[in-house]
Amino acid sequence: MAFDTIIRGGTVATASDTFACDIGIRDGRIAALGTQLGEAKEIVDARGKLVLPGGIDSHVHIAQPSGPGIVMADDFASATRSAAFGGNTMVLPFAMQQKGESLREVVTAYHKKADGHCYIDVSFHLIIADASDAVLGQELPALVHDGYTSFKVFMTYEGLALSDLEMLNVMSVARETGALVMVHAENYDAIRFLTDRLERAGKTAPRYHAASRPVPVEREATHRAISLAELIDVPVMIVHVSNGAAMEEIRRAQQRGLKVYGETCPQYLVLTEKDLEGLNMEGAKYVCSPPPRDAASQRACWQGLEQGVFSVFSSDHCPFRYDDPQGKLAPKGRTSFRWVPNGIPGVETRLPILFSEGVAKGRITLNRFVALSATNHARMYGLYPRKGTIAVGSDADLAIWDPQRKGTITQALMHGGSDYTPYEGIAVTGWPVSTMVRGRFVVRDGALVGREDAGAYVPRALSEMARPAHGSVSG
Ligand code: URP
Ligand code: ZN
Ligand code: ZN
Repeated sequence: MAFDTIIRGGTVATASDTFACDIGIRDGRIAALGTQLGEAKEIVDARGKLVLPGGIDSHVHIAQPSGPGIVMADDFASATRSAAFGGNTMVLPFAMQQKGESLREVVTAYHKKADGHCYIDVSFHLIIADASDAVLGQELPALVHDGYTSFKVFMTYEGLALSDLEMLNVMSVARETGALVMVHAENYDAIRFLTDRLERAGKTAPRYHAASRPVPVEREATHRAISLAELIDVPVMIVHVSNGAAMEEIRRAQQRGLKVYGETCPQYLVLTEKDLEGLNMEGAKYVCSPPPRDAASQRACWQGLEQGVFSVFSSDHCPFRYDDPQGKLAPKGRTSFRWVPNGIPGVETRLPILFSEGVAKGRITLNRFVALSATNHARMYGLYPRKGTIAVGSDADLAIWDPQRKGTITQALMHGGSDYTPYEGIAVTGWPVSTMVRGRFVVRDGALVGREDAGAYVPRALSEMARPAHGSVSG
């Protein structure tokens, strides 16, 4: 038999082309593209469907320590199951260091949580919270060498925020090793100042979370992160950009020829700070950082996606249960927005939202959708061309979409560990009906058929964007 599987009759799209063709799969890889491919053990009928590279969500938080008494809603099994239902074939969660911890031990601990418990493939970014000499001089370079080729630094959050000096030191290691630095850009001191002032005025409800981190807090930190990266001459990815002012900082840097990349997320396209105004504690469901903003910010984020300022669209999935004393309604969180755990679920809804609001409504092409949802993530994070495209030799990581299917996002349809979706009630056109990882279905026609141990850990090469003179992310 020539192939294990042939996916027949679908419309295939990559980041650059859309064409009618069949896909022949052998040993987990794409072995042929064309028509009349011959025999296979199994023929999958994809007529009337789109066959796209499986989504890669390069910004998710899974089973991450989140403070005393707070528990994240997803372990690796539930997060990767939910991701698969959302058309994803790979996620990149963070292995988060806390102060005083060995980075190597942190990575070992995350592997223990993940290995054998993933429905789809995974790879880890690092989070550097303790920029000690041992971490920067030994552990980090060794881990980059071992395939952990990107790391995130925070300019805010108690226990995580790095000083400018520490950022410069971390960026220097990135320059020496070729790793890619991801930056959470918000000004920590400004947030502390504004939070204290709001609390003194009795403004403690979830809605004041947005007031404690207004646009200038993000714009200033974005500008500073770019300036620090420019000093070191190192590429940088500004993650979860929420508004036009921060987006324009990135655009200006790109226009000056700097290797500055940007990411935005669904919450900045379809939510606003008004969502934080729910009765009682309902607003806590939308507490994430940076916060959702206003309609003008949403338009700016769309512009960033359409015009190529943002090269990746990720979920920043960071799920907590709402009605749970270990989640959004943690006892301390009820006393002030300051203590509400930051983050919202979104790994399952990222792609339906981008497809519906973007492709179905004519804001972006199908090829741009593929670039933003898969290909650019693979290129940015050292996975291309094994992942993120449909080409002979690539892993058969595919999502089959029904582009006409209409539905409404609601918690009852979700497959993760949270008890709510912040996107409840949003009408969508287009839905991923099947997801296949390395030639095996994980979700088939809306049903889970994959196994919890089927996902593999994938070590990564250096980012194409951090290596000089190698390819480029499309627009
Ligand atoms: O509120 C958010 N975004 N939580 C997740 C952690 C982060 O900063 O990405
Ligand atoms: Zn962040
Ligand atoms: Zn995040």
